[in-house]
Formats: sequence, structure tokens, C-alpha cells
Amino acid sequence: MFRASIICLSDKGYRGEREDRSTGVIREILEGGNYEIAGEILIPDEFDMIKSSLIEVCDRDRVDLVITTGGTGLSPRDVTPEATLEVVEKLVPGIPEAIRAYSMTITNRAMLSRGVAGVRGATLIINLPGSPKAVKESLEYILSPLEHGLETLT
Ligand code: MTE
Repeated sequence: MFRASIICLSDKGYRGEREDRSTGVIREILEGGNYEIAGEILIPDEFDMIKSSLIEVCDRDRVDLVITTGGTGLSPRDVTPEATLEVVEKLVPGIPEAIRAYSMTITNRAMLSRGVAGVRGATLIINLPGSPKAVKESLEYILSPLEHGLETLT
């Protein structure tokens, strides 16, 4: 059993102007696999808040996996990849490469997600796009090889 945390980045979700459905989709997929959810966080697209939340769940909660959703696009407020890059020690480029390659067979807008993945300590962080549809398509595709990666992390 792996422990996972979910961080949703959404200005509108944080202000209560849009319901966050992506966190629930991620939780459902992970709980259907070999994961228990250690925490769920909803924060605005603020670089420093994203960075400190990532550090907290990795270093304090010591989860195996952190999935972020949202903030990977091109709008000025989309800074999830930049915050992630500041906290990881190693990049795992194959994960976002695989997500984008598979997602491009569904929608060519997949090229607009700038998500990254990397390791901090014994935690793997993966950025997913914000929509529930994109989250489902991306996470289901990577779920099986992900377990092997997490086993090798500790
Ligand atoms: N990936 C998949 N699998 N399915 C999708 O519908 N939407 C794309 C892309 N990746 C999409 C996807 C779109 S429209 C955008 S703008 C980017 O993800 C970035 O989304 P974000 O800004 O919500 O993170």
C-alpha cells in the first residue's frame, strides 16, 4: 500500500467560484489501486504556496506520491511546473512525456500542458492538468508502471 497526497491548484476553486471535481477523480482512481489518501489540499495558483505545500507533504507527511492538478497551462497564473521544479531533486521526464504522448491521441490540446514530474527525498511528485477529464485520462494511463517506480524509491 502506498500513501498519496493530492494538491489542487485553482484560483476559482479556492475562492469557491468553481467546484473542484478533479481531486475526487484522482482519489477514486488511487483508492481503486494500491493507495491510501494521506491528505487533500486546495490552494490558489500562488507560487510560494504551491512550493511550501509540496515541501510540507514530502518532508513532513513523507508520502510516497504527490499528485497535483491544475496550473500547468499557459496563462500567467499557471506556475505549478515552476514551483515543482524548485522542490524536486531529480526529474522524471518519462512520466509527463508518456502522459502527453498518450493524451495527444485524445486531444491535440494535450500539448498545452507543461506538467513535470520529479523526486524529492522518497516522494514522487507528478503534475497533472486541471480538468477532471484530463486527470482521468492521464492518471489511468500511468497507474500501472507508477507502482514499480514507487517500489524502487525507498
Ligand atoms: N490532457 C488530456 N489527457 N485531456 C485533456 O482534455 N486538456 C489540455 C491539456 N491536457 C487535456 C489534457 C488543455 S485544454 C490544457 S489548457 C492543458 O492540459 C493545461 O491544463 P491546466 O492549465 O488546467 O493545467
